[in-house]
Amino acid sequence: MVGLQEIFARRSIRKYASKPVRDEDVKALLEAAMAAPSGGNRKPWHFIVVRDRGTLNRLADDHPYGKMLYEAPLCIAVCGDPAVSPPPRQFIAQDCSAASMNILHAAVALGLGAVWIGLAHPDRVKGAREILGIPGDIVPQNLVAVGYPAEVKEPRTQYDETRIHHERW
Ligand SMILES: Cc1cc2nc3c(=O)[nH]c(=O)nc-3n(C[C@H](O)[C@H](O)[C@H](O)COP(=O)(O)O)c2cc1C
Repeated sequence: MVGLQEIFARRSIRKYASKPVRDEDVKALLEAAMAAPSGGNRKPWHFIVVRDRGTLNRLADDHPYGKMLYEAPLCIAVCGDPAVSPPPRQFIAQDCSAASMNILHAAVALGLGAVWIGLAHPDRVKGAREILGIPGDIVPQNLVAVGYPAEVKEPRTQYDETRIHHERW
C-alpha cells in the first residue's frame, strides 16, 4: 500500500546495484502505471520495457541528463498515442505523467529506486524514437530508470507555505 510515508520517501535514485529487476516487479510497476487516472479514462499510454544493456547504453549516450541509464538495469519509456486522446481535450502529457508518477511510487513500495528522465527537447524525442523504434504517430513522453538503489536519500516533504493560497490567489 502506498501511503504518505512512501510519498515522502520517493526520491530520484540515480545509482543502482548491478542486479536485474525481477519480472514480477516489472509487471507490478506496469500495473501501477496503468492504474493511473486519465482524461476521459482514455488511457492513451504505451510502455516500452528496456532491459537490453546495449539499448540502455544507447539511451544514456543520447541523453545529457540520462547518464544513470549506463548503470540502470531497467528503463520504462512512457509513450502517448494522440489518436486515443485527440484535441481539443488532449491530455497525453498529463495522462503519461500520472502513469509515470505511479511507477515512481510503486518502485518505492517494491524496494526499488527510480528517476524520471524528461524528453522535452525535440532532439531527445527524436533520439528515443530512433533508438526504441517508436512509430511516428506515437509520442515518447519520458523515460523512467529503475533499479535496486545504491544510494540513500532522506524522505522529505518540500512543504512550502508561500506556495499556498486560500480561496483566491
Ligand atoms: C518532468 C521531469 C523531468 C525530469 N528530468 C530529469 C532528467 O532528465 N534527469 C534527471 O536526472 N532527473 C530528472 N528529473 C528528476 C528531478 O531532477 C527531481 O525530481 C528533482 O531534482 C527533485 O528531486 P527528488 O525527485 O529526489 O525529489 C525530472 C523530473 C521531472 C518531474
